[in-house]
Amino acid sequence: MAKRRKKTILVTGGAGFIGSHFVRMLVREGKRAVVLDKLTYAGNPENLADVRRGRFSRLMSFYQGDICNAEIVEHIFRKECIGAVVNFAAESHVDRSLLSAAPFIDTDVRGVYVLMEAARRHGLERFVQISTDEVYGSIAEGSFKETDVLNPRNPYSASKAGGERLAYSYWASYGVPVVITRACNTYGPNQYPEKVLPLFTTNAIDGEPLPLYGDGGQVRDWLHVSDHCRAILFLMEDGEAGEVYNVSAGYERTNLELTRLILAELGKPESLIRHVEDRPGHDRRYSLDSSRIRALGWRPKVSWQTGIRRTVRWYARNESWWRPIKSGEFREYYLRQYGGRLGLAQGRGGKR
Ligand code: NAD
Ligand code: TYD
Repeated sequence: MAKRRKKTILVTGGAGFIGSHFVRMLVREGKRAVVLDKLTYAGNPENLADVRRGRFSRLMSFYQGDICNAEIVEHIFRKECIGAVVNFAAESHVDRSLLSAAPFIDTDVRGVYVLMEAARRHGLERFVQISTDEVYGSIAEGSFKETDVLNPRNPYSASKAGGERLAYSYWASYGVPVVITRACNTYGPNQYPEKVLPLFTTNAIDGEPLPLYGDGGQVRDWLHVSDHCRAILFLMEDGEAGEVYNVSAGYERTNLELTRLILAELGKPESLIRHVEDRPGHDRRYSLDSSRIRALGWRPKVSWQTGIRRTVRWYARNESWWRPIKSGEFREYYLRQYGGRLGLAQGRGGKR
């Protein structure tokens, strides 16, 4: 008798920025998603509110828990008939990793180990490990290919490199069908406002300064979240086990260009830009060669100008999403990260 295909997809970190968009994409396609999310400062149940309340709600279940907790992972694998895992769960912000690396090593490395052990025991059709272009480090000219040497240069990217190589080792050693994605800087609605686009947009809306690190000439390769999620879904189904896939749309822009576009879209003055002390070890330029995934048929759909403008407008229209975040734990982090750089008085609200 043919083995019954296990259809449920475990999405770890599904209450975060990219994970929540991915869950929405899955259920809209009629696929069943089980979300496991610790709900750290970055996890937000509101990101999935429309799925929970909408007509696809029966296709999603939610567990609050830590991917490092082997018991809850085992419970989910037994109870939910998991056929595939997409591991988004991570500590994801470079600046926080420079303040404290420990949670990055726990989630981004040890968490992958716990998931891989469960995958090995139970068997899976696919395990997608969401990695990042940052594992390559900085490149002055040209673009990184999947075969290039990894040279992560901050605790975030180093822990992501450790996690993805550990996942790969479970393919090479035990045959767990792992596919690894390395995508570039992703933007869109529901991104926690510590990352540059939502931080600068929401600061600008409030007339607060935009803390641009160094000269603002650093280059990032920008990808809309919908294109990123389509790539993951595509590779979940059509990627080859044991392979790595770069994902990028090829929109390389300096941080200053991005900042100017945000301000122009909001009709705010460039005098809000503050050049502040640079991030230590700041990678100057990221650039990916994504010909491998394109050869399989994936293409990005959202252009840079349109995507950024649309996203900036989303934050302008959805203050009820980000205002509660910016007044909570975020405020403490903001003062710690930017207090000295912007000359904000520690312990005060920080508005100038
Ligand atoms: P995010 O910080 O918005 O979300 C991370 C989610 O993981 C949150 O919901 C959080 O609660 C959850 N989480 C954290 N630790 C956990 C744990 N121990 N157990 C269970 N859940 C946990 O991050 P994001 O920007 O959506 O990134 C998602 C993934 O994509 C990450 O793996 C990141 O490295 C990768 N990535 C991000 C980008 C980007 O530009 N944002 C680019 C390439 C790759
Ligand atoms: P970020 O959104 O933190 O993503 P990543 O570090 O993963 O690239 O930062 C994007 C770029 O913006 C990066 O070059 C650092 C820069 N940046 C600033 O100039 N100021 C800021 O306050 C932040 C958060 C980032």
